[in-house]
Amino acid sequence: MLDQLNQLRDNALQELEPIWDSAPLEAWRVKYIGRKGALAQAMEQLGALPKAERGAVGKLANEVKTALESAFAAKTGQMQQRALSESLESEPLDVTLPGRPRARGRLHPATAVMREIYRIWGDMGFQIFRTREVETDEMNFQLLNIPRFHPARDNWSTFYIADSDQRVLLRTHTSPGQIRAMRALHPNPIRVILPGMCYRYEQITARSEIQFYQVEGLAVGHNITFADLKGTLTEFARRLYGENIQTRFRADHFPFTEPSMEMDVECIICHGAGCPVCKQTGWLEILGSGMVHPDVLRNGGYDPAEWSGFAFGMGPQRIAMLKHRIDDIRYFWGNDLRFLEQF
Ligand code: DAH
Repeated sequence: MLDQLNQLRDNALQELEPIWDSAPLEAWRVKYIGRKGALAQAMEQLGALPKAERGAVGKLANEVKTALESAFAAKTGQMQQRALSESLESEPLDVTLPGRPRARGRLHPATAVMREIYRIWGDMGFQIFRTREVETDEMNFQLLNIPRFHPARDNWSTFYIADSDQRVLLRTHTSPGQIRAMRALHPNPIRVILPGMCYRYEQITARSEIQFYQVEGLAVGHNITFADLKGTLTEFARRLYGENIQTRFRADHFPFTEPSMEMDVECIICHGAGCPVCKQTGWLEILGSGMVHPDVLRNGGYDPAEWSGFAFGMGPQRIAMLKHRIDDIRYFWGNDLRFLEQF
């Protein structure tokens, strides 16, 4: 019986040696160490042996079993290893090949500037207040001190889209949001920005588009002064262009603010020396602003005897054009990848 077991082990190992495929390997396993394999059969005979021999035979049988099982496991590992190196040799990988570039999306330059502007005003305590792009004549003009047939309307060439007793139009500026914000937030103090798309019925040229972004700002409170307005706008310019940027304010006129002004920043291209971008003036105009007109406060539900406020409106695309020296506003909505991929 001992000889028989030794023989079985030698035969099995010898047969295993040349096997390199999974089907013959499986056949080998079934034949020798399967549940009804040669080893199992040999072990069945154990019981029939005289007691004296049983111990030694059992011990050997277990040793043979362990030897065959570990030979099987080792063979399986070698076969996997061999398959791997064969595939590596047959399909060599050239790690020096340049990678394939992946097309990456990026932010549109107008979106990027808008987000920067939101961040700055957000840090200064202004919340975003969204209002509608389709407005009534009343909101867009009348409640902002621009009555029907008033010559000031010439400043805002308008797309009218319905003419009922309430004329409906595409907003020409974000200023009607001031009325909506005041009516929504009354009687609380207000600090909001109103960003969004505006529309004007204009000839499309390098300098004017029929749609463009504006960011409006509105602060309403007790004792808000013109000094607060100047200080706040100056701080905004510093955060946008850097701490040392020079600013100046020029008197202007808007029907919905009194007094009104425009803010210029020192030309970011020539730093005041004079160049074609600033038309040799050394200054760039970046926004309009003023103290909210008492009639506008009243139209929003705030009593001008108790409340005051300031407002401003800026064109983020103009800011982006100056920053990136984009010389034609039509690029923004032209969907030309050669333009968009530069940002
Ligand atoms: N709404 C003006 C425009 O479209 C910009 C503006 C000027 C907004 C002065 C304001 C302001 O809030 O105070 O040209």
